[in-house]
Amino acid sequence: MKKTIRDIDVSGKHLFVRVDYNVPMNTELKIVDDTRITATLPTINYLIEHGAKVILCSHLGRPKGVDNKMSLRPVLARLSKLLDKPISFAEDILDKSTKEMVNKMQDGDVLMLENVRFYDGEEANDPKFVKALASLADVFVLEAFGTAHRKHASTYGIASVIPAVAGFLVEQELKMYDKILNNPDHPYVAILGGAKVSDKLPVIENLLDKVDTILIGGGMSYTFIKAIGGNVGTSILDNSKLELAKEILDKAKEKGVKVILPIDNIGAKDFSEDAETKLFNSGFFADDYQGMDIGPKTIKAFKKVIKKAKTIVWNGPLGVYEYEKFKRGTNKIAKYVAKSKAISVIGGGDSVAAVQSLGYGKKITHLSTGGGASLMLLQGKKLPCVELIEDM
Ligand code: 3PG
Repeated sequence: MKKTIRDIDVSGKHLFVRVDYNVPMNTELKIVDDTRITATLPTINYLIEHGAKVILCSHLGRPKGVDNKMSLRPVLARLSKLLDKPISFAEDILDKSTKEMVNKMQDGDVLMLENVRFYDGEEANDPKFVKALASLADVFVLEAFGTAHRKHASTYGIASVIPAVAGFLVEQELKMYDKILNNPDHPYVAILGGAKVSDKLPVIENLLDKVDTILIGGGMSYTFIKAIGGNVGTSILDNSKLELAKEILDKAKEKGVKVILPIDNIGAKDFSEDAETKLFNSGFFADDYQGMDIGPKTIKAFKKVIKKAKTIVWNGPLGVYEYEKFKRGTNKIAKYVAKSKAISVIGGGDSVAAVQSLGYGKKITHLSTGGGASLMLLQGKKLPCVELIEDM
């Protein structure tokens, strides 16, 4: 168990709260999904109520230097509305005006720093930048589960030099991942999709000792289908992972874990929404077609397994989720997971988006705010920033 803000006296103290407000925005810089903001409200409200001085720090996007399109101002406006409270804004973290603002804070005040990735020192975990950040606060609060896998100045660096505790969001995320990784109820089903097979192979290897069934879809499935001798046409493939994919399937068999690959797929001639489509039995694609979604037989087979599950972990979409036409498989699976009585944990942008857009968010036990961070945990690795938080 890690120490949280509940375990320390926060009253009157400056708390550097690292949040992950890396939220999706449209071209007019409007926030499209504020899940990562609302998820931090319990922590911020608790700190305000207990008289802390709350300094919020986040990154947004991957800017190269200062870039107004990636300013945190729209996030500040949204958060201020959600908290129903004015929040001050420090435009330049390194300017002395920021330190002055911090010194003038009253108990219960909230201050937001501008995008921390506007500074080179952030991703480099530069000791000078770490020192500047640490000089603003007495305690570090890790509330950025989505960034807990990064060894950056505002995450790993600062947590190495001032006392570090977890916020409620990180506490909840760790609790849920601990349950599904160390103490799951059976039957236990993992649903894995997404394009990058290289990210998911270590996940499968780690889950082989824990789950009963693995359902594989999305771009990564074509490497598996090819590995067992299927023709996948022009589908996305990682040729360097064919052997490993085959080895993992053999290992699963040895361990008695059922791996279900797609039975049929919707194929398209081009990677576009209006391309000509055709249904193929998986492994029997026409040479000039590529897989874009799972087909009806696959959906039915996956549904059967999901219905019986007591634990479900899902990461990655089962088709090309950016195109409306190829969202069907992912959306159907989202519906079945939402209907199931199992403990369900969903991570990764598109799978979470599918559930949210269909209004099933509340039916899922835990919608994770972490992409890379949740993959790291599913791969059986530790999150470096979490490791720096004191144990109880
Ligand atoms: C995420 O969205 O996964 C986190 O905010 C981390 O972002 P990054 O991959 O740019 O470090």
